[in-house]
Amino acid sequence: MNRMNRRTVLTAIGAASLSAGLPLGALAADKKLVLGFSQIGAESEWRTANTESIKAAAAAAGIELKFSDAQQKQENQIKALRSFIAQKVDVIAFSPVVESGWETVLREAKAAKIPVILTDRAVNVKDDSLYVTFMGSDFLEEGRKAGRWLVEKTKGSTGDVNIVELQGTVGSAPAIDRKKGFEEIIKADPKFKVIRSQTGDFTRAKGKEVMEAFLKAEGKKINVLYAHNDDMAIGAIQAIEEAGLKPAKDITIISIDGVKGAFEAMIAGKLNVSVECSPLLGPQLMQAAQDLKAGKTLPKRIVTQESIFPMEVAAKEFPSRKY
Ligand code: AHR
Repeated sequence: MNRMNRRTVLTAIGAASLSAGLPLGALAADKKLVLGFSQIGAESEWRTANTESIKAAAAAAGIELKFSDAQQKQENQIKALRSFIAQKVDVIAFSPVVESGWETVLREAKAAKIPVILTDRAVNVKDDSLYVTFMGSDFLEEGRKAGRWLVEKTKGSTGDVNIVELQGTVGSAPAIDRKKGFEEIIKADPKFKVIRSQTGDFTRAKGKEVMEAFLKAEGKKINVLYAHNDDMAIGAIQAIEEAGLKPAKDITIISIDGVKGAFEAMIAGKLNVSVECSPLLGPQLMQAAQDLKAGKTLPKRIVTQESIFPMEVAAKEFPSRKY
């Protein structure tokens, strides 16, 4: 277990002082703080809400935001980070598309004395002084919540429960952890069998395409779909309906995020449950950047508090949903 995010999650919130020598405390009070943010792309409803949250919060906080969309490519994120370093921004933040391969560019940021904040997803680096803090969800726990819901739902049944899984982007923290957390729970009972598992890249189109292939291969054998995000589940619902089956009835559907699209699907009786993963990280990110400017110490890990929404509560909860 050498991934730094794992360690920080397990040790909960360990106070970490700002890396020595970071110059933000010295930033003149009247100078506008400049934040460079590298976003993964626009692959899902979640991601769009995350981008909106960051842009709105920067505007509200009077922070100059340099926003860069990496279109799902790590190489574009690395280029963006290097460009932020060259522009001498005050703080860099990014949501890493995959976990590995960040050491070199993070060392460059550290050498330039620019603090880095990870939002939403973690990186796998040996030296955790390469970033100041990681704020976002506990993906492992999200996977566990999905697993626990299924265990409860199938309580008392003895036959096999055949599960197909739509994974998120290969190598990404949420895909790795949501798979792991779910497996951790269902492995306690051999009736649970994951009969197919493939990436749907967190998109509706790919979710539909892969579910079509699952249905072709396994047909009515499929009892449960576990999708690592709502978008893939919504794409898969279309595939299930086109195959003449009833989503949420013939196939139980579990997904993650809790976006409005998922609530609409639950209200329509087509999705059984969505585990919440909040994209509304903007205000927290701006606060952290300002705290850095003020020379304050940030916790090394800031975990987003989240819930789980089964279809039975969807109509009641929908009016208060913000994304
Ligand atoms: O990293 C968060 C995940 O990325 C969300 O679950 C998914 O919808 C997004 O694309």
